[in-house]
Amino acid sequence: MSEQQTVDAGARRVPTSEPVIDLIAGRWSPRAFSDATVSDATLAAGLEAARLAPSAYNSQPWRFIVGRRGGHVFDRILAHLIPFNQGWARDAAALVLNVAVIEADGRKAPLALYDLGLAVQSLVLQLQASDVASHQISGIDPDALDSEFGLGAGELAGLHAVTVTVIGVPGDPAQLDAGTRERETAPRERLPLDELVLLAD
Ligand SMILES: Cc1cc2nc3c(=O)[nH]c(=O)nc-3n(C[C@H](O)[C@H](O)[C@H](O)COP(=O)(O)O)c2cc1C
Repeated sequence: MSEQQTVDAGARRVPTSEPVIDLIAGRWSPRAFSDATVSDATLAAGLEAARLAPSAYNSQPWRFIVGRRGGHVFDRILAHLIPFNQGWARDAAALVLNVAVIEADGRKAPLALYDLGLAVQSLVLQLQASDVASHQISGIDPDALDSEFGLGAGELAGLHAVTVTVIGVPGDPAQLDAGTRERETAPRERLPLDELVLLAD
């Protein structure tokens, strides 16, 4: 029997000019997931971390629909991913649909997506602290997801599906097709810091 090979997380690290905390430096977005489950407590801690995120006027314009592999909600989210994402995300332990409150009390909330992103990053880092990986995807059909879960109408008026967080324990890249496997192990690239900081004193 062959042993499962997981990607060496250390080798996936992006070199940095200054030391960065492990939680951030050690995060990356896998597409190969093992069949390990993620405990209720770990997932709940991730959602609690999202809850604590900052937001404009403390409006907290984030909502989550949580599906666990084997469950009906998981399958309903999975059905509306683009085929490429379906191909690998079906093996994940959980799929979280990230929903923004883009309109409240008849007023547009232009910062809702910004706030949702902050909340999702808190979820990601809390999970990472338990060695559970996440992968953001926008390759979804947001309108179909809105219809699937009744977002944007009735009690859920003003809510809109934005992204999905794919969650699980990293698995063996051998389970991926050749093209996806290559991306799984390719070096992670980032712009240099001096291109990002436009002005500083
Ligand atoms: C908003 C957003 C949408 C993304 N959509 C997809 C997607 O649909 N499919 C996919 O395979 N990866 C997707 N990604 C993952 C990115 O490709 C990945 O984060 C990026 O290449 C950096 O890699 P890293 O997360 O390992 O640092 C998305 C990431 C973000 C933040």
